Amino acid sequence: MRNWARGRGFFAGMAYLNVEGAIKHYGATTALNGVSFTVAKGEFFTLLGPSGCGKTTLLRSIAGFSQLSAGRVTLDGTDLLAVPPHKRDIGMVFQDYAIFPHLTVADNVAFGLKARKIAASEISDRVAEALATVRLSALSERLPAALSGGQQQRIGIARAMVVKPRLLLMDEPLSNLDAKLRLDLRDEIRDIQRTIGIAAIYVTHDQEEALAISDRICVMDSGSIEQIGTPQQIYGQPATRFVASFVGTMNLFAPAAFGLPDVPGVAQWALRPERLRLAEAGASDDSSFAGLVEHFTYLGREAHLTVQAQGHRLVAQIAAPPADLAIEAGREIQLSFDRADLQAFDAAGRRVRTERVA
Ligand SMILES: Nc1ncnc2c1ncn2[C@@H]1O[C@H](COP(=O)(O)OP(=O)(O)OP(=O)(O)O)[C@@H](O)[C@H]1O
Ligand SMILES: [Mg+2]
Repeated sequence: MRNWARGRGFFAGMAYLNVEGAIKHYGATTALNGVSFTVAKGEFFTLLGPSGCGKTTLLRSIAGFSQLSAGRVTLDGTDLLAVPPHKRDIGMVFQDYAIFPHLTVADNVAFGLKARKIAASEISDRVAEALATVRLSALSERLPAALSGGQQQRIGIARAMVVKPRLLLMDEPLSNLDAKLRLDLRDEIRDIQRTIGIAAIYVTHDQEEALAISDRICVMDSGSIEQIGTPQQIYGQPATRFVASFVGTMNLFAPAAFGLPDVPGVAQWALRPERLRLAEAGASDDSSFAGLVEHFTYLGREAHLTVQAQGHRLVAQIAAPPADLAIEAGREIQLSFDRADLQAFDAAGRRVRTERVA
């Protein structure tokens, strides 16, 4: 049982990296607006947010490629900002691989070790080990141009790991790869990170990737943190309307819609598409309502419906649809939901805890 709570229980209170009040201005642009969080040893921590929210700025500031306007960063108890970038002992993996085209796979991986004046025999052992970890041993003498995108990014990962950094930073490492490779390499990155037990900060704007790979996710918007939590907390108990809509799809509707009572402080109700279900025709329990089908998409293991109802456009996701399920656009159907599945937000878009709406 304990392992299941790993995301929260295991990491709580064990700060390894500590970022406090990070602020970054570029002229009139505020890229980071007072960002604070901690990452535990061995934790996989993901920065998730829309383009321009400050993810890369935050990573570059931790690595030392960019200087914060204000704030404090400590790693294992020591002030990181006082250390020059090349002495911070941080590994970095970039979106565009950033490997040397004229060096073989093995020489690319060895590059950082040579720069550190490590003995040749140790270099070859460590390069071999890193290449085996990312499954590139057979290609060690190739030039990068003769490799696929996924293989090139494996070089990037091996090169970052081989110096045994104290922290691994990855900035959208999978975004140049096709969908299938993304999934494979995503799982590999997670396995490698767990095996070597390194603390990692991973940047993505892909919410599904973040849910799949992270111990904890930090959702950012416009230079500020909206919420930090386990994937389950971020998806199941979003702290703000922004998080609710950015991570997954959320149906939002007005307080008085669908026969719901007026609850003081609630400005908007929210319901995940998978919590809406098809009701029997003529069903009349108090949470069922009629809607007009706009689109119906059958995807095998699920089906998606867009429905117009009481002035709202709702999305419903039907799991394991019967094989003969087909609903034409324009048809009227009955939908229903459990009120216990509703979430609520106040006028400022913050989560409101509501007792079960009877
Ligand atoms: N060198 C720079 N000079 C001026 N403004 C910058 C600079 N770098 C970033 N910014 C601005 O700072 C903000 C944050 O940029 P950042 O690159 O950190 O976003 P991001 O979350 O990584 O976005 P993306 O998902 O597109 O990579 C943006 O408004 C961006 O335009
Ligand atoms: Mg970026």
